[in-house]
Amino acid sequence: MARKATPEDKFSFGLWTIGWEARDQFGDATRPALDPVESVHQLAKLGVAHVTFHDDDVVPFGSDAATRDAILARFKGALDETGITVEMVTTNTFSHPIFKDGAFTSNDRRVRRYGLRKVVRNVDLAAELGAATFVMWGGREGAEYDSAKDLKAAHDRYREGIDTVAGYIKDKGYDLKIAIEPKPNEPRGDILLPTVGHALAFIAELEHGDIVGLNPETGHEQMAGLNYTGGLAQALWSNKLFHIDLNGQKSIKYDQDLVFGHGDLFSAFGTVDLIENGFPSGGPRYDGPRHFDYKPSRTEDMAGVWESAAANIQAYLILKERALAFRADPEVQAALEEAGVYELAQPTIAEGETLDDLLNDRSTFEDLDVEDVAKRGFHFVRLNQLALEHALGAR
Ligand code: GCO
Ligand code: MN
Ligand code: MN
Repeated sequence: MARKATPEDKFSFGLWTIGWEARDQFGDATRPALDPVESVHQLAKLGVAHVTFHDDDVVPFGSDAATRDAILARFKGALDETGITVEMVTTNTFSHPIFKDGAFTSNDRRVRRYGLRKVVRNVDLAAELGAATFVMWGGREGAEYDSAKDLKAAHDRYREGIDTVAGYIKDKGYDLKIAIEPKPNEPRGDILLPTVGHALAFIAELEHGDIVGLNPETGHEQMAGLNYTGGLAQALWSNKLFHIDLNGQKSIKYDQDLVFGHGDLFSAFGTVDLIENGFPSGGPRYDGPRHFDYKPSRTEDMAGVWESAAANIQAYLILKERALAFRADPEVQAALEEAGVYELAQPTIAEGETLDDLLNDRSTFEDLDVEDVAKRGFHFVRLNQLALEHALGAR
């Protein structure tokens, strides 16, 4: 039974997702180009609230100023007609051959300066359209060969580039935040800032890191064999979860960009549980757009494109129902209690207690019956089985 999405669900799609013509490494396009204006109208019918895009998704690379203005005016018309808003804008610094060695970290300084100009121009557009987030995905910031890059200099240039853009946003007074999107590889053999953890550490080195956070993508963390929900959790804990790219991925292989839930389904349940229910002990929440960055498979015709867009929404809404039921179930709450999940929120050293107090408390060490404490079973498996049964709708 189809669930109905409304703008309150905050669903958002990249124009490059449904607009992908399905040209890949081995084959030509299998679908015609899609007019962004038509995409906006189709997405509105699905109950989508927002769209996102790369500069070049809307205005073809190299368009002159007059053409650019005309295209943007027509695009804004579609936004006005549908009520769809632009929540995020990003820059294509990977398609044109000039970016073959990256943009901010290209070995060619002319490319770095050109890339910065392209990004800054796009920041102005993002602000003009009222976007809240400016995503920066490394794209081709990386290398195939260790000898090809001075990695110290590459990180210096990456920091210089992002700090320059962030400084510009502040100077202009734009209400815009930057979200870095990690990815381990593809299209380069290795990409800089490959995972959530690498990107968090990089942000800590920035001058303007206060307005720089993360846009983690499901498949990208999973391509590195990592737990996506765990990455979201650490980003949230650091107050750096500015945006999300939801999709599906089956294990460590090329970037599949499947429909959300069509990859590791149980992990997708965990993701939705975190987004919709938050941490068991409360704390920072994500309340931004539920943004899908997937690709309709190359086998799909245009009807299949819209079916696959709807599939993301349906998968999310179903998992949301299941996740809410999971946390509301008294049996689950008892299992969480028994497993110590709530106990973990208690500080190890009590308020007012000092380390000296702990050192002098014989019951914590000298007199502790270690063998007895070691007997505790946590029953995590039972808790996980409850999660699975809820996820499958069997409860
Ligand atoms: C990918 C990336 C992109 C980015 C987009 C935003 O693997 O191709 O996920 O789709 O999200 O370019 O910058
Ligand atoms: Mn991707
Ligand atoms: Mn993405």
